[in-house]
Amino acid sequence: MANIVLGIATSHGPLLSTPPEMWHLRAADDRKMQHPWRGGTYSFDELVKMRAGENLEFKASLDERVRRHTACQAAIATLARKWDEVKPDVAVIVGNDQMEIFTDQNIPTFLVYYGETIDNIPFSDEQRKRMPPGILIAEKSHHPDTPQSYPGLPDLAQHIIANLMAKEFDVAAAKRLPKTDASHTSGIPHAFGFVYRKIMSDRPVPSVPVFVNTFYPPNQPSTHRCLEMGKVVASAIESWKSDARVAVFASGGLSHFAVDEELDLSLIDGMKNNSEKALLAIPADSFRAGTSEMKNWIPVAGIMMNRGMKMNLIDYVPCYRSEAGTGNAMAFVYWQ
Ligand SMILES: [Fe+2]
Repeated sequence: MANIVLGIATSHGPLLSTPPEMWHLRAADDRKMQHPWRGGTYSFDELVKMRAGENLEFKASLDERVRRHTACQAAIATLARKWDEVKPDVAVIVGNDQMEIFTDQNIPTFLVYYGETIDNIPFSDEQRKRMPPGILIAEKSHHPDTPQSYPGLPDLAQHIIANLMAKEFDVAAAKRLPKTDASHTSGIPHAFGFVYRKIMSDRPVPSVPVFVNTFYPPNQPSTHRCLEMGKVVASAIESWKSDARVAVFASGGLSHFAVDEELDLSLIDGMKNNSEKALLAIPADSFRAGTSEMKNWIPVAGIMMNRGMKMNLIDYVPCYRSEAGTGNAMAFVYWQ
């Protein structure tokens, strides 16, 4: 039977691959948006007033941005080294789509991809024109220079689907990923592309992408459901007739676009303390906008906790890009 030998959870936000002096590109968008934060929703100017005591101008200064960006690069390099050292045979990757390939025509709560190949395709000229500011600059973190086709893992994917169905998860399944004129991406979304490029260094092993709709109302799964989904995925891996050594990834988070260190630490401490209860105690309305990507971490954390694998927090780096506290808090963890 297959064995889970490694767990990796990594942030994947565009700031990781944007030079710190260019972080203002996304901050310009922040000024126009409303931001979920601690149960409310606020304008940029409201956040500046409410968070006046947090020394955010300093935290978003260029010197700090450079320092924090450098720390993130070191952490990503550590994860890539760990990947190389452990050399898992195959991977299951829990990530989300950000309206890259799904549209409001149909957004699955959970979807398992069971195709033979996973295409990772650079943006077309048409797609580039439609990008919001500050996204295109980070394309290299998830798209290769030329279209690539990576190995899928239909055998394990179908076994995971069968196990989820047997445990009454009515999971969506895709042998091909959707592509329409409205698609912002033509292959696998960035949550997965980031793992293939930055952690697996463009030499991906066969993998199963598991999609969680963290972002989009009205059908996001609860944290409890995410945790339970992880348990079924793990037991499917461990009952898969293979002697493969398997890695499980979580891609995304932590808090963004309004950074909330207190919230991030509640997730990190819950994982450190092997406490499902602590993870489930995080208020449901915390998981909005990019912060919702923590729901990719919860199933993976649950899998690792239940196997007694040791959690190693490589770094937690809140990356601020404005005096309103907008940005993206980054975290990098492995379990072994
Ligand atoms: Fe994302």
